[in-house]
Amino acid sequence: MENKVKPNGKATLTAGGKSVELPVYSGSVGPDVIDIGKMYAQTGMFTLDPGFTSTASCESQITYIDGDAGILLHRGYPIDQLAEQSSFLEVCYLLLKGELPNAAQHKEFDSTITRHTMLHAQFDRFFEGFRRDAHPMAIMCGTVGALSAFYHDSTNVDDPIQRQVAQHRMIAKMPTIAARAFKYSAGQPFVSPRNELDYASNFLRMCFAVPAEDYKINPVLAKAMDRIFILHADHEQNASTSTVRLAGSSGANPFACIAAGIACLWGPAHGGANEAALQMLQEIGTVENVGPYVQKVKNKEAGVRLMGFGHRVYKNYDPRAKVMAQTCREVLKEVGAESDPLLPVALELERVALSDEYFIERKLYPNVDFYSGITLKAMGFPTSMFTVLFALARTVGWIAQWEEMTTDNTQRIGRPRQVYTGAPQRDYVPIGQRK
Ligand code: ACO
Repeated sequence: MENKVKPNGKATLTAGGKSVELPVYSGSVGPDVIDIGKMYAQTGMFTLDPGFTSTASCESQITYIDGDAGILLHRGYPIDQLAEQSSFLEVCYLLLKGELPNAAQHKEFDSTITRHTMLHAQFDRFFEGFRRDAHPMAIMCGTVGALSAFYHDSTNVDDPIQRQVAQHRMIAKMPTIAARAFKYSAGQPFVSPRNELDYASNFLRMCFAVPAEDYKINPVLAKAMDRIFILHADHEQNASTSTVRLAGSSGANPFACIAAGIACLWGPAHGGANEAALQMLQEIGTVENVGPYVQKVKNKEAGVRLMGFGHRVYKNYDPRAKVMAQTCREVLKEVGAESDPLLPVALELERVALSDEYFIERKLYPNVDFYSGITLKAMGFPTSMFTVLFALARTVGWIAQWEEMTTDNTQRIGRPRQVYTGAPQRDYVPIGQRK
């Protein structure tokens, strides 16, 4: 990556009895940043920012979010335009290369990804090592990490060609792995990829075809799947992406770094939210129970939160949620799931939360996961697969961010500091002398 931050004056900090000047930099859009890299050397103090709410960890040219305005741009293009007019593979190319592909580039990229979708036959034995009732995210973590044991020729992070091959392999093989995780838990035989199908259709067929009956591609569902992949493709320096960058900062191989990202994504405050949102709707059960449940949330009973609501960055609305809500309606109509008893519960919850002062005050809006859970359920996926689909889609974002970090001249191993509040130095006491 060619670094592009521009100096834009200085900030004065008075700390530890000293006044020091710290450089201020500007990006192309968004708030300026204060470079505190030399602050410890100048003042003897660190900064403290749990959760990184005011800290930029890197320079990036991939994704821009303005949380207050509800804007999400990939390489400058608004997410709604990409979701409505582009395709997932085109967005992958955009995230990785920085520009939309022309027709020839698109054809070549499509063909490369399509021809990397198969897994080494020996790789299938990994799946058999898992219990049948293993969570598919556990299978994803394990098997994606295991890719580094199979594809040694693409683990040298200093070789740009090897890095590119690893990137293509992961984008191509992730749907095959995800579908196998699904099939394994369903006790059905694995379905091999078909090169004549597009990325989303191929994935749906690998999930839903059985030897007794092939899967008939439904264009509405294939389009919805592709759109869900686009909406989850990248999201700036979120927890899992930062995990991938931190793992990569030590020079770890790309497959290991993506496995680390999958592990982080699994948590209910992050990628696990769509699964948690659907479980919450099931727990609420009926429209009549919505009011009492919301009251429980407002009373903060046992830490109950509205899953699928709120976002660390979006404090206005989640621009992905708008497109997802529309896709949700299209899918429910197509599969005739308007009669799903959870749908009225979801709609009532959305209505109550959007008009309640508690949620308005805290700027808590439905996020993309609120609608994606309902949509994926209607498409036939069990809740345990929701985060797997998120991981599949986010792989390209992790990879693009990892590549950017690897080629950034300012990159160093990530090593945060701490404020220590444990015991100060003391002498070891032999066990017989302890009270
Ligand atoms: N339901 C109820 N109250 C909430 C919620 C929620 N979902 N989210 C935040 N709040 C409240 C908090 O209790 C707090 O209230 P207080 O000021 O009275 O103490 C206030 O809003 C601020 O909350 P924070 O925890 O400081 O917000 P933060 O930005 O750290 O959290 C997060 C963001 C983790 C996403 C949170 O909103 C949440 O837990 N949401 C539910 C899980 C979820 O949907 N995650 C998906 C994120 S999107 C994604 O990963 C694709």
